[in-house]
Amino acid sequence: MDSPAQISVLQTAWQWWTYAARYEGALAATRRLGGVLWEFARDSTPDRLRARFGDAEYDWDYHVNTTSGAVGWRDRLLGMFHSAYQPTEPVAFHEMLDALQQSLQQTPGPDHTTLGTALNFRDFTFIDLGSGKGRTLLMASDHPFRRILGVELLPSLHEIAQQNLRQYKSESQRCFVLESICGDATAFHLPADPLVIFLFNPFPESGMRQVVANLDQSLREHPRPVYVLYHNPLLEHTLSESQKLRKIAGTPQYSIFTNL
Ligand SMILES: C[S@@+](CC[C@H](N)C(=O)[O-])C[C@H]1O[C@@H](n2cnc3c(N)ncnc32)[C@H](O)[C@@H]1O
Repeated sequence: MDSPAQISVLQTAWQWWTYAARYEGALAATRRLGGVLWEFARDSTPDRLRARFGDAEYDWDYHVNTTSGAVGWRDRLLGMFHSAYQPTEPVAFHEMLDALQQSLQQTPGPDHTTLGTALNFRDFTFIDLGSGKGRTLLMASDHPFRRILGVELLPSLHEIAQQNLRQYKSESQRCFVLESICGDATAFHLPADPLVIFLFNPFPESGMRQVVANLDQSLREHPRPVYVLYHNPLLEHTLSESQKLRKIAGTPQYSIFTNL
């Protein structure tokens, strides 16, 4: 199968600048571009590069490559314009899935009864929008989801995710239908299944608004249970503006939204 075409750094920087200049003016956009490039240079010092391997323990355990340490300069620079690749820590991930289960047992539903029953993962498709090297897909496969999908913009990260999906072996694995798709998640057509959608700050505010609009539209066309797990919820207000979702649980580390 052909590899997806690489994304051009210059074109990405130009699109980023044009968008910024439209809202802030050319001078402010150019200054901010300088700031982005300066941050990239600081982020490329040997100390910072070494520090990024601090997230590699998972890779040692499962013989995969999901660390942010082993991301080339090109993808790191592209990440400055979209969002930098950083894998979710296993402890945080499992805490979020546990919280999802528990919050259902405690949360009042719209009719003031409790939502009650535990979520049956078998009914749900798990989707990570901005899935990078696919670590969350592997971790989600410890739960018996119906299937697991990741959507990643950068072709090289997507290709590594595909290798990881082939290579991963764990006795705790419960779902074996896993797929990484290369594309823009803000334009991704959500499947009509019950969904658990995972977001770890993949988009700037405009991208988040687009995804929320897509989800609202998808729920109008195909009403079904949907949960959104938002890790490090810096742009939580964009989800709160959804016409279909409401927040049912959260900590400073994550928020959980549902349409139920
Ligand atoms: C913070 S990382 C999270 C990776 C993964 N979800 C995890 O939790 O381990 C965000 C990822 O979103 C990707 N991304 C950024 N914009 C995107 C877009 N429009 N469509 C798909 N992926 C995107 C980045 O390339 C990066 O891999």
